[in-house]
Amino acid sequence: MEVVLAKTAGFCFGVKRAVDTVYEHVDKGSIYTYGPIIHNEEVVKDLEKKGVKVINTEEELKAVKDGTVIIRSHGTAKKIYDILEENNIDYVDATCPYVKKIHKIVNKRGSEGYEIVIIGNTKHPEVEGIKGWCSSKVTVIENAEQAENYTAEEKQKVCIVSQTTFNYNKFKDLVEIISKKGYDIIVLNTICSATEERQAEASRVASQVEAMIVIGDKHSSNTQKLYEICNEECENTYYIQTLDDLDTQSLQFFGSVGITAGASTPNNIIEEVHSNVRNEF
Ligand code: F3S
Repeated sequence: MEVVLAKTAGFCFGVKRAVDTVYEHVDKGSIYTYGPIIHNEEVVKDLEKKGVKVINTEEELKAVKDGTVIIRSHGTAKKIYDILEENNIDYVDATCPYVKKIHKIVNKRGSEGYEIVIIGNTKHPEVEGIKGWCSSKVTVIENAEQAENYTAEEKQKVCIVSQTTFNYNKFKDLVEIISKKGYDIIVLNTICSATEERQAEASRVASQVEAMIVIGDKHSSNTQKLYEICNEECENTYYIQTLDDLDTQSLQFFGSVGITAGASTPNNIIEEVHSNVRNEF
């Protein structure tokens, strides 16, 4: 059987940096992450075993008396930094620099009189974080209906940014709808190229193989998106979290298999699946 492992499978630069930061700190006293460091149960469980605690609310954060809080790659709202500063809590900011750049844009444009539109999923922690840096009116738009319904004051300046992991074609479509409304608009495509490259490669590999394996946590939105993209190209696409979920019985009938993984899937899980598929068939 031919096995093709996508080069872009697994941790992106920002996630790797954040996860490495936590592992580097595990021996240095009490360590907390504000929210799970990544959407991957295996990694979060492993860190838990090493004593890393996950803080989920502002109240829990205020109660921290010692140790270090690590801010994950998704970033967080300005008010969280204010709590950390006001309470003299030691912290390490592992926000991905690409996300940080969006925080700066919305903050600056807000102070220049722009209202902000974020193209993204309103419930995603990255979008919640970006919202938390907006100093002017902010609207989150995820679909065509919301874009059609969007209104601003006449002559209002509008700055449009995107969640880093949003689909580029969908972003373009939504921007086009808003652009027709005649506002004074600036559009900043803040989609991360790591996501685009991973999705493009996944689609290419899936179109060339008989079966496709997508590895990632069931809660990871970028893995779910990868699964959808692969499934469009290859009807035998399997979504697994670890090697245990792999249905080796069905795989044996295929002549070629492709493998990709979401941005929060650790290398050891990908390698385990890769070598298993290679050696079994
Ligand atoms: Fe950063 Fe892009 Fe990853 S924004 S966290 S490098 S997907």
